[in-house]
Amino acid sequence: MHKITIAIDGYSSTGKSTIAKQLADWLDYVYVDTGAMYRAVTLYAMENRFISEAHFDKQALIQALPNVSLSFKKNSETGKAEIHLNGRNVEPLIRSLKVSEYVSPIATVPEVRKKLVEQQQAMGEGQGVVMDGRDIGTVVFPKAALKIFLNASADERAKRRYRELVERGELVAYTDVLANVMERDHIDSTRKDSPLKKAEDAIEIDNSEMNLEDQFHVILQLAKDRIAGRV
Ligand code: DC
Repeated sequence: MHKITIAIDGYSSTGKSTIAKQLADWLDYVYVDTGAMYRAVTLYAMENRFISEAHFDKQALIQALPNVSLSFKKNSETGKAEIHLNGRNVEPLIRSLKVSEYVSPIATVPEVRKKLVEQQQAMGEGQGVVMDGRDIGTVVFPKAALKIFLNASADERAKRRYRELVERGELVAYTDVLANVMERDHIDSTRKDSPLKKAEDAIEIDNSEMNLEDQFHVILQLAKDRIAGRV
């Protein structure tokens, strides 16, 4: 059957990766979590002391970029793809609030974006793919057959992220999580290079009041229509 590219963009913690994974599993497409790639580069920058609370040495990070190699490998137990940084599985480390605090400044650096966008385009080339991020429908795959732009209230998104962090055993305050969500929204949507914005031909869905099942059915139907060439 005809395979398409599906771009899922939107604000942080809108559930992009949940719906993208559901769709990819159902359609038997490749799923790519581009946020994980920016998070892995952020971890690299933190471990090499290029970024901390007090400073961000952009030039050092740019110079070190050729030494950063990212790949996704399937975890044989869970069946889920996990990100590897220079051959090391960093999936358990990249979702912390610390990484979330530094990732948006890292994602403003054009050299970082160029490297990751090239890799993302190569991963999606010639196959059915569901990719989630901030600039998939605008920059990575501007010709994607289906573009979804997810949104939800900041409060609802912070609650979701807070529950996730607490479930993973991180000791965090809700107010810090909300502040981080709002800060990232601001940096992501005002940066010069590839700011977060809805592509003109994207379908916007506000899922503040939607359950996962309803959302899945709505978006799956859109995908089926595009695959069949109905719209
Ligand atoms: O989806 P996420 O929350 O894991 O993404 C982490 C950060 O990475 C997000 O705040 C902005 C950046 N990002 C980006 O700039 N472009 C993408 N395609 C994906 C993520």
